[in-house]
Amino acid sequence: MSSIHNYLKSGVEDIIPLLGLLLKKSHAELISISNYQLNLEQKKRLEVLIKQRQKGKPFAYQSGIQGFYHLDFKVTPSVLIPRPETELLIDISLDLFPKKQAVKLLDLGTGCGIIAITLKDKNPHWSVTATDFSAAALRVAEQNCQADISFQQGDWFAAAEGQTFDLIISNPPYIPAGDCHLAELTFEPQNALVSGADGLKDIKIIINNSHKYLQKSGYLLLEHGQNQRANIVKLLGKKFHNIQTFKDYNLQDRAILAQIKN
Ligand SMILES: C[S@@+](CC[C@H](N)C(=O)[O-])C[C@H]1O[C@@H](n2cnc3c(N)ncnc32)[C@H](O)[C@@H]1O
Repeated sequence: MSSIHNYLKSGVEDIIPLLGLLLKKSHAELISISNYQLNLEQKKRLEVLIKQRQKGKPFAYQSGIQGFYHLDFKVTPSVLIPRPETELLIDISLDLFPKKQAVKLLDLGTGCGIIAITLKDKNPHWSVTATDFSAAALRVAEQNCQADISFQQGDWFAAAEGQTFDLIISNPPYIPAGDCHLAELTFEPQNALVSGADGLKDIKIIINNSHKYLQKSGYLLLEHGQNQRANIVKLLGKKFHNIQTFKDYNLQDRAILAQIKN
């Protein structure tokens, strides 16, 4: 069994993207060359890819690339794989300010840089700072970036000390330790996912400190997990107003926007 045709009929999970990755061809191109016989080297490499996939390695870590919004991003096992739900944060941010306003944005926990880089690409006149405590993640973000973004390493706001912003965005870790979904996420960095017993440890730190780093009437925009909305609204209560909550494309509560009280 070494023709593309036979592999396509094999029923192996994700055989189309795996063949596409191996031969650098689209699905349509694979079909058009379906009589092609893989050579020994190609067969060996495909078997490795199939085994990795069967053991649960995400395809994005095999290809090293994940699309997000209108761009492709390099990903490595040091960074969380960008999720489509996070595109909601981009949509909300793009609607928030008049087109020409020179917005100062802070992206806390940037990972491979998707939020900072996408918003800078859409708004080249924005001044963007992106932080993470993982040096390995920041190296990936810097490789993904062709624009002028300030990347800073540090524990949450320690990386932005002394600065203030119009908009602070974070997609922080928000899964409770011991949550059953973590069993499916073993290939991704756990410190990008898990946040204390209730999943709110990092969100509390961000909410409790952001008033020091927001300009007058500035906004805080957070991604969060299912069932966390009510708790986060309560946490925002004292210092924030104009709180808006958003559902993702699967109609799950996913994001909260709040404006600092002056
Ligand atoms: C859920 S991932 C989000 C990555 C990226 N922003 C995205 O949306 O795909 C959370 C990120 O926060 C970073 N992080 C976790 N704890 C942190 C901390 N104490 N200070 C700064 N960054 C942290 C992780 O390294 C990770 O990159």
